[in-house]
Amino acid sequence: MKFFTVILPLFCLFAATCEANQEIEQTKKMKYELTPLEYSSSALEPWIDTRTVDLHHYKHHAAYVDKLNAALASAPTFSFGGSLGELLANLDTVPEAIRGAVRNNGGGAWNHTFYWRSLAPANMSGEPSDTLMEAIRRDFGSFEAFKTKMTAAAVSQFGSGWAWLCVDQDGNLKIVSTPNQDSPAMGGCVGMKGLIPILAIDVWEHAYYLKYQNRRQEYAEAIWNIINWKRVSERFDCALKTQSISL
Ligand SMILES: [Fe+2]
Repeated sequence: MKFFTVILPLFCLFAATCEANQEIEQTKKMKYELTPLEYSSSALEPWIDTRTVDLHHYKHHAAYVDKLNAALASAPTFSFGGSLGELLANLDTVPEAIRGAVRNNGGGAWNHTFYWRSLAPANMSGEPSDTLMEAIRRDFGSFEAFKTKMTAAAVSQFGSGWAWLCVDQDGNLKIVSTPNQDSPAMGGCVGMKGLIPILAIDVWEHAYYLKYQNRRQEYAEAIWNIINWKRVSERFDCALKTQSISL
């Protein structure tokens, strides 16, 4: 009788405490979270449709975050206390067993946050700051020539990947593309040391296929209507002043 009145409750309390601790540990490992959109799913209409934004953000982007956390949880001896951007910049310190998963899914998580924050509803798109526009004209000849060149980089990226506008170590603007979920945020780990991204175009099919099917060119041209130029200009200023990436 004594067992049921004294020992069993104590055992249950101990078990409950262990479960709680496990939950805390799991919460600690589930460090990275899906960054919320700054606008509604319909805000990019008609250039990017509501259903695409919903699926892209709440399914694809969310899946990268979940898989990143799962990869990190599978390596209990590895802990990293920094931001996701810092984790990607230090990919070479990630255990080899999960490095590929962190590269793909961490890259996917970070790139998409950067992408969503590169966009804005058409009526809030604005235009590049005077400083950025001056640099665009200096490095590409004209704003139109720049857009044509970046659109071409997006369209010609073979398979899935990204087109990026970056600032190099001399303050010059460069257009580059990356395969899969590779990112300038990974720096020297993917041969992109010193390139600071300020604008991204996602050219994975999931970014445009529902509305544009195989017409990537149309999507890459349409996206110029919804660029958040205020944000891109701020990133440019940050890159020049601090040599660092601004989300
Ligand atoms: Fe995507």
